[in-house]
Amino acid sequence: MFLIRFLCIVVLPNPVIQHGASTAGSSITFPEEPDDPRVHTPLNEGPTGGIWGFIKGVAGNPMVKSVLDKTKHSVESVITTLDPGMAPYIRSGGELDLIVTSNKEVKVAAVRDAFQEVFGMALVTGEDGQSNIAPQPVGYAAGLKGAQERIDGLRRSGVIHEKQPAVSVENFIAELLPDKWFDIGCVILDDPIHGIRLENFTQATPLPLEYVQQAQNLTPQDYNLRWSGLSVTVGEVLERSLPQVSRTDWHVAFTGMSRRQMIFSAAKALAGMYKQRLPPRIL
Ligand SMILES: *[C@@H]1O[C@H](CO)[C@@H](O)[C@H](O)[C@H]1NC(C)=O
Repeated sequence: MFLIRFLCIVVLPNPVIQHGASTAGSSITFPEEPDDPRVHTPLNEGPTGGIWGFIKGVAGNPMVKSVLDKTKHSVESVITTLDPGMAPYIRSGGELDLIVTSNKEVKVAAVRDAFQEVFGMALVTGEDGQSNIAPQPVGYAAGLKGAQERIDGLRRSGVIHEKQPAVSVENFIAELLPDKWFDIGCVILDDPIHGIRLENFTQATPLPLEYVQQAQNLTPQDYNLRWSGLSVTVGEVLERSLPQVSRTDWHVAFTGMSRRQMIFSAAKALAGMYKQRLPPRIL
């Protein structure tokens, strides 16, 4: 963690950046500067050599210190070009601190990408929040309630502060036309500090009737959460019926569009609206 925080404040001089990041194609080359052996540290050698050593070495160069602050953006692009996996950490920080009420990567990564694209910097992390409704919510109201309950649960149990801004995603099914069912994601943002509450929905994914009927048939008649939905999710039914399909992202198998993309689009619009409503000082 220290190294990650350290990286956030390190900057490189422009000549190095240009030499590295703007090189055409994907190959990265470093400047040939015989008088500074530190920049010759070979890549991929672990925490002490490699990119870490390279960055620490360059940051220690007094000439480099004079260009502090100007090139933060560029250094981020160099680091993330070298190691795309660093992107979420490098771009985290700033004043925006959001919790996503799940530890499922499909949700957390989609929301993180969306808010970082809109705000540039945003710390977005996941906490597993539970809802007290049926595992397969049915209808818009149930989807909304499930999303809200995940936030309420985390606040009530003290996992997150009662004023912590949070984003919550809940997928539900809805019969939009007679015998035509769709899966839709409800995405909400709740920021008690600024009194901001926003809702949006993902695009709808058509769901073959037979799978909905199976989930309905597997739900006991006297199921106590029946008012909110079914005891078996359509994802579970699909996973059982179609071995090549995963319950968390059957959307991509059916439509060619992944669930992550759909959550991303809805969350990005939410982030845009949030940015407009926040007081200017936080931007
Ligand atoms: C809701 O999300 C969709 C993407 O699913 C987006 O196109 C739309 O602009 C969003 N609407 C609002 C009001 O944020």
